[in-house]
Amino acid sequence: MDCKELLSAARAVAPAAYAPYSGFRVGAALLFEDGSVYTGVNVENRSYGLTICAERSAVTKAVGEGHRKIVAVAVSCPDARYPVSPCGACRQVLSEFSDPDCPVCFEDGEGKAVTTTLGELFPYDALHDLKET
Ligand code: THU
Repeated sequence: MDCKELLSAARAVAPAAYAPYSGFRVGAALLFEDGSVYTGVNVENRSYGLTICAERSAVTKAVGEGHRKIVAVAVSCPDARYPVSPCGACRQVLSEFSDPDCPVCFEDGEGKAVTTTLGELFPYDALHDLKET
C-alpha cells in the first residue's frame, strides 16, 4: 500500500470526526508492518484541552489490538486549505511506534499533499535512548 491509498483511507474517515468546536475535521490512517490499516479521527470535548487528535486516536486503537510497528502514516484534513501535518504531541507519540524513515503524508481539502518522513518532522528525538524497540 502506498501513501496515496493510505491518504484515501484517512480521507474516508475524516467526516466521522467529532469537531464541533474547531470545525476542523481530521482523519488519520496508519499502516502496520503486517499490512493492517487503522484509522482515527479527532475527538473534541467541551473541556477543550481534552481533545484527542486523529493520529493519537488511531494509535490507541491499534496498540489496544496488539499492533506495535507503524510503517506509514497519512493525515487528511478536508477543512484546511493547506496540508496539515501531525501536531507536536502526535509526532512524539507516533515516534514511539515507528522509525525515523517512516513515510508521513498529509493533505488538505483541495488535493494538495506533502510526503515526508517522521525523522524530518521529529528530529533530535531527546528521548531516543529510552525507546523500547
Ligand atoms: N488535530 C488533529 O486531529 N491532528 C493534528 O495533527 C492537528 C490537530 C485536531 C485537534 C483539534 O480537534 C483540531 O484539529 C484543531 O486543532
